[in-house]
Amino acid sequence: MSAPITLSRLRQMKVQGEKIACLTAYDASFARVLDAAGMDVILVGDSLGMVIQGHKTTVPVTMEDMVYHSQAVAQGNEHALLMVDMPFMACPTVDLALVNATRLMQEGGAEVVKLEGSGVQLEIVTELARRSIPVCAHLGLQPQSVHKIGGYRVQGREADAAKAMLDSSLALEQAGADLLLLECVPEPLATDITAAVEIPVIGIGAGVHCDGQVLVLQDILGVTPGKPPRFSKDFMQGSGSIHEAVTRYVAEVKAGSFPDAAHWFK
Ligand code: KIV
Repeated sequence: MSAPITLSRLRQMKVQGEKIACLTAYDASFARVLDAAGMDVILVGDSLGMVIQGHKTTVPVTMEDMVYHSQAVAQGNEHALLMVDMPFMACPTVDLALVNATRLMQEGGAEVVKLEGSGVQLEIVTELARRSIPVCAHLGLQPQSVHKIGGYRVQGREADAAKAMLDSSLALEQAGADLLLLECVPEPLATDITAAVEIPVIGIGAGVHCDGQVLVLQDILGVTPGKPPRFSKDFMQGSGSIHEAVTRYVAEVKAGSFPDAAHWFK
């Protein structure tokens, strides 16, 4: 199999127009399946609060939870870049952000930490980057703010909100973010942001022109209860095994055939 994926490899992929495949995982068994299928990035998302722990939101997830699941995923992963979420209120100050990011890297095996938001986060991204902690900034729908925004909905539809998101993306890149993740962002805006920044952009519900795609593992395996998110796709349909479903996801992302217009927002 190929060499371990690094941030410089992801930057090279952006330049060469090669799509980045990313999926969430929360344990060693699924990490092994994703790694064997050629996943570029595995995200230990705080979505584990919903899909593993059964909470209604990601807010109850703690640093202990993130460290525990990162350790498990790191055991099963050999090649994919391991990205781990900073959970709700893990970055209330620069000092705590540094302590918590260090824990995710030293105890959890994270190679990139992901944090939601811009604004007050700019200083935190700057300080993490100054200390060589790789950062993915998460814009668009930020599930940790669900109680503030009042639901899970598309972000950046109005002209002023779209401009603010583009400005935030550029500011986060300037602050030293290595990756950008856009969640539930109209496809034209995500396309503009992807063209405007030099760092790789991974989208979820953000259209096909992002540099890569991420989905939640349970969604692509069709085991999430209730109505699946509009941007997700059940890859178990038509697959004979979990390995085949994950491999098809990677292949469709790489080919640019996922997502199609049915899985993004105008
Ligand atoms: O927590 C998570 O799984 C995420 C993805 C939805 C991008 O942040």
